[in-house]
Amino acid sequence: MKLLDNAIRLSYPLPNGKTVKLKLATEELLGVRMNKNVKRLIGCYEQDMLFLNKEIEGNIQQHLDERYGRDKSKKALDELRTLEAVVFAPVNAQLDKVDFSVSADQLKAFFGTQLDEEFARLKNGDFDPTLSYILNNPDGQALMRSLLTQFSIEFLIEGAPMGLYATGAFGTLQSHLLRVYQDEMGNGVPEDKHSHLYEKTMLDLGLSDTPDAYQDHFLTSNMLVSAYTYQICHDKSKFLRYLGAFFRNEACFIVWQKQLGDSVREIYSGKVDCHYFDVHTSVDQAHGRWVLDNLIDHALERFGDDAAPIYYAVL
Ligand SMILES: [Fe+2]
Ligand SMILES: [Fe+2]
Repeated sequence: MKLLDNAIRLSYPLPNGKTVKLKLATEELLGVRMNKNVKRLIGCYEQDMLFLNKEIEGNIQQHLDERYGRDKSKKALDELRTLEAVVFAPVNAQLDKVDFSVSADQLKAFFGTQLDEEFARLKNGDFDPTLSYILNNPDGQALMRSLLTQFSIEFLIEGAPMGLYATGAFGTLQSHLLRVYQDEMGNGVPEDKHSHLYEKTMLDLGLSDTPDAYQDHFLTSNMLVSAYTYQICHDKSKFLRYLGAFFRNEACFIVWQKQLGDSVREIYSGKVDCHYFDVHTSVDQAHGRWVLDNLIDHALERFGDDAAPIYYAVL
């Protein structure tokens, strides 16, 4: 990512060998207006799922009525589509003309290479430049706390958007998808639930383990990623896009999780719980393989070449 002329330039390779290049006005993508809209959009999506934070005291039914009552959920649904259109417009407008064409075989090979490269980097990959910067900075502990606070937007509610695909009836794909979901939820062992592991990390850092504690501190860019995940889980017409994103989530952050865990351990001299990072370094190797060999493979076979570009179409 490059910042130049008040514009953000992004580029990423496509499975068909081409490269997508985006140029986005910083103010449009990350300005005050976007911050307000994306925060509100996430609030709308959150009507889809139950949050019972530990600090809740008093009458439980009253709390549920206040947070999820008919008026609240109706307002959220009314606003949602308009907010989605506004929030995703800057990127969407530039993706309209991109050629995402790809065959099912090409896509499978592309994902396979990504997974192979991730495994190779686990053995002898370069260290992440952001983490190197933090490790070499005299203010490293504070910087790392900021970074880990940003990640709490996702890690403290891990699997929650994915749970929106728990319902319905979609056969083999549903069974394979929910196999991973069960792992994220701890398979009936609350101590193993991935969000619980991150709660322990947050508490050791002297931070709150409540999901919405830092909602006024999240970067707009961070909220945009979160909103995108919610969108493709909430809107079932985006199921294929979700499968592509799901592969990426499970298979392409294994090295990052390992290096993040190593960095946290080093910077806090082993005093901060790192189980969250260790578990992901290990379990996401299995999840990445599982998603590719079962979900993606099955979906590509079932839906064929015509649908293949959609897994990677992003919006
Ligand atoms: Fe996880
Ligand atoms: Fe996972």
